[in-house]
Amino acid sequence: MKLFLDTANLKEIEDFLKLGIVSGITTNPSIIAKEPKSDYLAHVKKIVDLCKQHKQEIPLSIEVFQTDPEKMITQAKEFVKELNYSNLNIKIPIGWAELGVIGELKKCGIKVNCTCGMKESQAVLAASTGANYFSLFCGRIKDMGVDPFPVIRNVRNILEGTNTELIIGSIRQEKDVVDSFLAGADIVTVPTGFFEKMATHLKTTETINQFINDFRNWIDK
Ligand code: E4P
Repeated sequence: MKLFLDTANLKEIEDFLKLGIVSGITTNPSIIAKEPKSDYLAHVKKIVDLCKQHKQEIPLSIEVFQTDPEKMITQAKEFVKELNYSNLNIKIPIGWAELGVIGELKKCGIKVNCTCGMKESQAVLAASTGANYFSLFCGRIKDMGVDPFPVIRNVRNILEGTNTELIIGSIRQEKDVVDSFLAGADIVTVPTGFFEKMATHLKTTETINQFINDFRNWIDK
């Protein structure tokens, strides 16, 4: 069971590195586009520097933004060379032409997060190419009117005994996190906004307040 952080925001990343509760970071081009406009690699380099600074060389996934297979390969190699980060994973969206991209990157020893997964057969192919991770998108599966949790359970079974870890992304509500783990996720990548909700409960707050009040009444007597 591992929690990853689904953000490219530098302050959020630094805050969570300080907390020490996340085991990895995932980004995608949309997530990067939420940050102030800058050079893509320069921004990712800042994330890498933060991880190194906090002595947490955790897996970092960044996605290619080229769509032509040859250009994807070139861009992935450029990312690896420029960032020089031992735990860099290149996100390649699953697709027919993209299978060759994943195969080529694996041949070059580049770690791959095969992303944008929506169904079981894509997991079969991701594992066959030797992808390090397969990212299945819970919220986007729900958007199609499909219950994502049976899909997660099936993908869990498919990936059993392979070297491909299952990441559940596209988290839309706090409950998705636990439900994804219960369905068999190795990793859930969570936007920062859900963590505080996960930590708190009205009854917990009420209980803590009662303990403190009871103690104060006793000590002040
Ligand atoms: C995961 O790796 C993706 O970055 C992300 O979770 C996609 O989520 P979305 O459906 O909210 O775009």
